[in-house]
Amino acid sequence: MYVCVCKGVTDHQIRQQVSDGARSWREVREATGCATQCGKCACFAKSLTKEALQEA
Ligand code: FES
Repeated sequence: MYVCVCKGVTDHQIRQQVSDGARSWREVREATGCATQCGKCACFAKSLTKEALQEA
């Protein structure tokens, strides 16, 4: 599922970043470009990242 339409980032990619070692929303954002354009996805993408971090 696409989380960020502008940058074409999926929920899978976000989880992947976390399992690859990203430890914060900032790191995920920098690695994927998610939420760097219109910003509409930021809230959801951030909570998805938090969720993934808790599972990690
Ligand atoms: Fe993510 Fe626009 S949908 S920056």
